Amino acid sequence: MSAIPRRTVWFEAGSVRILDQRQLPWKVEVVGLATVAEVAAAIRDMAVRGAGCIGATAGYGMVLAASEARDWAELEALAVVLKSTRPTAVNLAWAVDRQLVAIRAAGFGDRAEVAQATAEAIADEDVAACAAIGRHGLELLGALAARNPGRPLNLLTHCNAGWLAFVDIGSATAPIYAAHEAGLPVHVWVDETRPRNQGARLTAWELGARGVPHTVIADNTGGHLMQRGLVDLVITGADRVTRAGDVANKIGTYLKALAARDNGLPFYVALPSSTFDWSVEDGLAGIPIEERGPDELAWIEGLDEKGVSSRVRILPQTSGARNDAFDVTPARLVTGLICERGVCAADAAAIHALFPEKRLAAATD
Ligand code: MRU
Repeated sequence: MSAIPRRTVWFEAGSVRILDQRQLPWKVEVVGLATVAEVAAAIRDMAVRGAGCIGATAGYGMVLAASEARDWAELEALAVVLKSTRPTAVNLAWAVDRQLVAIRAAGFGDRAEVAQATAEAIADEDVAACAAIGRHGLELLGALAARNPGRPLNLLTHCNAGWLAFVDIGSATAPIYAAHEAGLPVHVWVDETRPRNQGARLTAWELGARGVPHTVIADNTGGHLMQRGLVDLVITGADRVTRAGDVANKIGTYLKALAARDNGLPFYVALPSSTFDWSVEDGLAGIPIEERGPDELAWIEGLDEKGVSSRVRILPQTSGARNDAFDVTPARLVTGLICERGVCAADAAAIHALFPEKRLAAATD
């Protein structure tokens, strides 16, 4: 069992170091990935997962690609290998493309140094963006708490958009950690997030490690709690957000947004700007949704009574299963986006007011 590192991904002694998230919460294991093929497998098999974390991992994967490639064609082919591992979180393609642009600008001969510097910049910017999201989100939570003095704020989150899903701090968790550290009483309802249980296994583990009060709930419980006044605000992360504010996130997010709207509750999405896809307007039409294998539904993993990790089948042998990994929440259901530059409405005008350089870029596309 390794000690918990500060960052979830870094480069050391010629390999990309990651926390193997498939082992959590039972085992903290740091593994080294020494080839592009190993990085690609780690992303595909979800040893690393979460938009920011896979973006940073792919950024470091391009350091390995720069050392494996003997010419441009090989470098571009390795970039495709990394980009094709998972389709929905846009940070992955964003990081790989940023590396290609930087290496092209510098020239093939300088690829090693440029790839390393760009990978470190991607990781450092991810940390800075999450810290800024925390500061902006804290203002929002502080204002909400001031309207409800004398009791903890009840927040509901889905999946894991936490420290583990980024390089550090997390997006949806950033305001939560900031509030907790500022002494604002918060309690988090954590959706278990079937089928892979990122909420129950990962979000609960990291909130617990930082002493944040939380309770895991079955995925279908949130609406019921909202009806009874037990939720003040819903906050999730995102895997891809369109320039008009449609949000692709872990399957089940849309249902939480619907329930929040029906109960008049705020539904916020926290994201670094690397999660925007400036080329897409309509999320339903334009965001590819990953469909994963049926085994994630058919089998469930945990510790048995003796504390031994086991997998058991929970579906009849004769039943098939469909496993859509993400859904799209239309912008009209999103109260606001918490980004590193501030909080804005989920609509094209407000997003582009926060990121004016992107409006100019889109206009010249
Ligand atoms: O399939 P995953 O676990 O990589 O999905 C990503 C997520 O954990 C969530 O959708 C999250 O809210 C957005 S990632 C910051």
